[in-house]
Amino acid sequence: MAELIYKNVSKRFDDVEAVRELSLTVGDGEFVVLLGPTGAGKTTTLRLAAGLEVPEGGQVFLGGVDVTTVDPANRDVAFVFQQYSLYPHLTVFENMAFPLRAPGRKTDKATIKKRVTEVAEMLRIGHKLENKATQLSGGEMQRVSIGRALVRQPQVFLMDEPLSSLDAKLREDLRVELKRIQHEIGATVLYVTHDQLEAMTLADRIGVLNNGVLEQVGTPREIYEHPATIYAARRLGSPAINLLKPGQLGIKCSNGQTEQVGVRPEDVVISRDGKVNGKILTVENLGVETVSLVDVEGSHVHALLDRRLNLGVGDDVAVTAIAEKRCEFDKNGNAIELEVA
Ligand SMILES: Nc1ncnc2c1ncn2[C@@H]1O[C@H](COP(=O)(O)OP(=O)(O)O)[C@@H](O)[C@H]1O
Ligand SMILES: [Mg+2]
Repeated sequence: MAELIYKNVSKRFDDVEAVRELSLTVGDGEFVVLLGPTGAGKTTTLRLAAGLEVPEGGQVFLGGVDVTTVDPANRDVAFVFQQYSLYPHLTVFENMAFPLRAPGRKTDKATIKKRVTEVAEMLRIGHKLENKATQLSGGEMQRVSIGRALVRQPQVFLMDEPLSSLDAKLREDLRVELKRIQHEIGATVLYVTHDQLEAMTLADRIGVLNNGVLEQVGTPREIYEHPATIYAARRLGSPAINLLKPGQLGIKCSNGQTEQVGVRPEDVVISRDGKVNGKILTVENLGVETVSLVDVEGSHVHALLDRRLNLGVGDDVAVTAIAEKRCEFDKNGNAIELEVA
């Protein structure tokens, strides 16, 4: 495996700046997830690493070599596409063996068999090797297309929302397996998604992409606890971070530049005791936690409820916040460094 580096990379399509001066290093053996909504530039960023797009500006390095203008065929990367595209008339084995049979690769028969079997076992489709691709479920097909990338042992894996077409349960299972396999083989992975849960659970580091601009790169925890911008703050966490005006919930701000204060739902404290300043609007029992929307002096705030309080819609409550956990943002939506007390 190897390191992937983007250095000031830009790519435009006519008047759309799909990627703007993006700089990012995916370390050897690291799992980096780019998180952003549709149109943020995720696919374009991956295609630039694969050589399917050539940037107008900047450079791409693979394993220390400048590959900016190198053909896709001469780059040692494996791409897992959003939509699996298997050869329907071939068996699972043949679909997975396909990249190893590419001209120039000259892998011998025994090695192909060994690699395909190993990877199929890892992905838990070892018993399906003789099935035609058309005889598989959606989840199995996506495993095969991930497997087709894994047999190659390339320098870098590029994965474009590979789980987005699967139902929730399968997505969760495959997410866990993908992480386990990546760890096991020490793969370098650049993975893109619009799903914050995937980003939080898979990533060693997340890059938050906004309209072609990388707004923040950091561990999931760093970005969750110390978002650099309101945009980054709102991309992680469900329900999203509450954005309040200075002074609301009794939070004092560090300086006069603060326009908005971010408080995570788990840092809003709801109680039956104390000064009543809120009313419960909704209660959602999500199993692990209970989420509530609360009206506080005219603002709507999401909070986690302590189930033991047995609160219901319409109840009057006292609402405060753990003020130390707040984030403050200026008028441009950039985080203001808080003074440590
Ligand atoms: N081949 C193309 N021609 C024209 N515009 C494109 C092309 N590919 C991407 N774009 C535009 O570039 C922007 C980023 O697209 P993309 O990288 O596909 O985003 P994402 O994968 O995050 O949804 C979008 O505005 C998209 O319409
Ligand atoms: Mg895309």
